[in-house]
Amino acid sequence: MFEISIKRTLTPVTKLFVVRAPLVARKAEAGQFVIVRMGERGERVPLTIADFDREAGTLTIVFQEVGKTTKMLGALQQGDCLTDLVGPLGVPAELPEKGRVLVAGGGVGVAPLLPKVKAMHQRGVDVVSIIGARSADLIILEDEMTAVSSKVYIATDDGSRGLHGFVSDLIKKLLDEDEKFDEIVAVGPLPMMRACVETTRPYGLKTWVSLNPIMVDGTGMCGACRVTVGGETRFCCVDGPMFDGHEVDFKEAMTRSLMYQEEERQAMNTCCCSGGGDCR
Ligand SMILES: Cc1cc2nc3c(=O)[nH]c(=O)nc-3n(C[C@H](O)[C@H](O)[C@H](O)COP(=O)(O)OP(=O)(O)OC[C@H]3O[C@@H](n4cnc5c(N)ncnc54)[C@H](O)[C@@H]3O)c2cc1C
Ligand code: FES
Repeated sequence: MFEISIKRTLTPVTKLFVVRAPLVARKAEAGQFVIVRMGERGERVPLTIADFDREAGTLTIVFQEVGKTTKMLGALQQGDCLTDLVGPLGVPAELPEKGRVLVAGGGVGVAPLLPKVKAMHQRGVDVVSIIGARSADLIILEDEMTAVSSKVYIATDDGSRGLHGFVSDLIKKLLDEDEKFDEIVAVGPLPMMRACVETTRPYGLKTWVSLNPIMVDGTGMCGACRVTVGGETRFCCVDGPMFDGHEVDFKEAMTRSLMYQEEERQAMNTCCCSGGGDCR
């Protein structure tokens, strides 16, 4: 069992857990993820490692309550335990040793971005960060990103904070102002990552994305997380989750992410956390 030693509410729908998992923390690297499960018959939920402390033997995960299982997860309290936590899974992020990198996080995507920014900052890379959200109250981890970035820009869809627009608009603005970057890392919902990739394509600027397809086993065996990158089939859990965004077939990824929409809707209707049912 994996004890939740700290719980923080970052926004009404975003929670942060610090979880005791010494063996996973010992091996964790930026860019990797874990699969957590609640209960013997629970769904397996992949979540990026947002931070780790090898000495304390803890991992940080940040998640948005989007469906039945993440709502049930969000209802857990400090001192409660996760039944399973498997990891670290995935390939550690390929991060530069020097230079200037622009990073862009959309919504809860800022959490998976943070360990990458921290690791680059520790190596002496100059990191300029963009944080995006639908509105000002949904911006997360701004202090943590500010501590490891030379500059932080904010964009909100409704204009309640920073630039009125998307993170991809801010990327375009900086590139048009002739700011120089060696590469870009964009993490967030698929439409946001696709927009970032299309913004940087004309500039020929290397753009990394972190994909989040539906996963089941997380070991490369089930095929659920299949994505097409550079015309080749890759499995996000063992070949990713980070890929060269200009090579990703986003149309296919978006279609596949909607495969179980009806089942997800039905599951939500039986979830007591949303007032719908008994969570079984
Ligand atoms: C490598 C990886 C890292 C991730 N990291 C984070 C993170 O740090 N924070 C975070 O909030 N979310 C993260 N996700 C997404 C998270 O796993 C899903 O939001 C979660 O599984 C949804 O479960 P649910 O039962 O609450 O929702 P459901 O009702 O099952 O689905 C709601 C939405 O979540 C998507 N989804 C459902 N199951 C999965 C799945 N197994 N994998 C991916 N998407 C799914 C669906 O397409 C749908 O849009 C990550 C996904 C992957 C693959
Ligand atoms: S989750 Fe099964 S192959 Fe990746």
